[in-house]
Amino acid sequence: MPVNSSFTPLELMRLPLASALREEFVGRPISSLRTPAIIIDRAAFKENCAQMGAKVEGLGMHFRAHIKTHKTAEGTRLQIAGGARKLVASTMPEVWGVLQDGITAEDIDDILLSLPISADRMEDLNDAQEKAGAIVIRVMVDHAQQVEHLAAAAKRLGRTVPWSVFIKVDGGGKRAGAPPRSAQMDALLQACKAEPAIEIFGFYSHFGQSYASRTLDQAGQFYAGEIDCVNDAAARAIELGLSGNWILSVGATPTAHAAALGARAPGGLNGTLELHAGCYCLNDLQQDATSLVREGGLALTVLATVVSKYPERDGGEVMTDCGALGVSKDTGPVPGFGRVVSKGHEGWTLGRVSQEHGVLTRVVGAKEIEIGEQVRIVPNHACLTCACHPWFYVVEGASDEIVDVWVPWKGW
Ligand SMILES: Cc1ncc(COP(=O)(O)O)c(C=O)c1O
Repeated sequence: MPVNSSFTPLELMRLPLASALREEFVGRPISSLRTPAIIIDRAAFKENCAQMGAKVEGLGMHFRAHIKTHKTAEGTRLQIAGGARKLVASTMPEVWGVLQDGITAEDIDDILLSLPISADRMEDLNDAQEKAGAIVIRVMVDHAQQVEHLAAAAKRLGRTVPWSVFIKVDGGGKRAGAPPRSAQMDALLQACKAEPAIEIFGFYSHFGQSYASRTLDQAGQFYAGEIDCVNDAAARAIELGLSGNWILSVGATPTAHAAALGARAPGGLNGTLELHAGCYCLNDLQQDATSLVREGGLALTVLATVVSKYPERDGGEVMTDCGALGVSKDTGPVPGFGRVVSKGHEGWTLGRVSQEHGVLTRVVGAKEIEIGEQVRIVPNHACLTCACHPWFYVVEGASDEIVDVWVPWKGW
């Protein structure tokens, strides 16, 4: 069934909530917060965006920023200020949020909804396009049936412009996408070719497997691999008789970092290369493990309170109020669920989590932590950690003072 409502109840609640939260918290020290609480260092966030934008511009490429990590107006505007004129969103509330926040075609060219498109989103998308004016809302397809749904919706809605689609290419990650040389890709390309209500804007890859990189060289190899995969899909389209000035969009934070740090892209491609990333604005332990995050680039921590101690357990453990609902259960290459980074408490790890309980374990030599103390923890995965919290407290650099509160666009 088509769904047609461009304002979720959560969205209607968000703005008054944000101003009430600002009134309550701005100017207070983070030590006065109820925990667990997300703390975003806005200076680090801004610098991550600025550095990525400047480096990508230096390469003569366009940059597409995924906004799903934080899902906030404030974060999106910092990504745009860093040079991103193209956005990717995971949900309709993110798309509506951008439009309702007053971001216009002067700021961005387009928003791509990144999940393969489903029939129940067509009314929403069409409605969003009407609100978006000159900002183009693009959609992702990876199966011929989605083309049928788009064509049927174009007819039903009386659309006069074709849907602009990215073809999602699977380069081996086996998440969304069709492999470049596959029956599924051929059927999809043929369906697009035959359907005037569809226009292929480009080919898109998200190389999640690049999270395994530990060096620039390894990330550079993933970068080359994903360029090859979208380029091959475009080559297949040409073989099937399609043509266009296509965008070849590649990225994930490790491969985007690799490109920004000098990994080379081949020439002679079947389209114009564009880079995308999302997590780069905040970073986390998964990104840190790639060795490509700049010094000072970890912009997200979770503040937790120590609520108990167990000195007789292995080397002594302490209990915090930051469990799986504070950081998520995402794992990473570093054992545990987060690393304590508070000065004087280095060497402690969020070793075990259950729903609201988070046990800190320590390496030999780490200093005692007392009941009532607060610690700041860098989580494994910023995107899922942000999703655990109703809003984020914002500080500037090393200062403890809250300067803003960001309320994310929740829901679907
Ligand atoms: C479709 C798509 N594009 C881009 C990204 C951004 O990847 P990252 O968070 O590694 O920057 C993601 C993340 O999952 C994604 O799903």
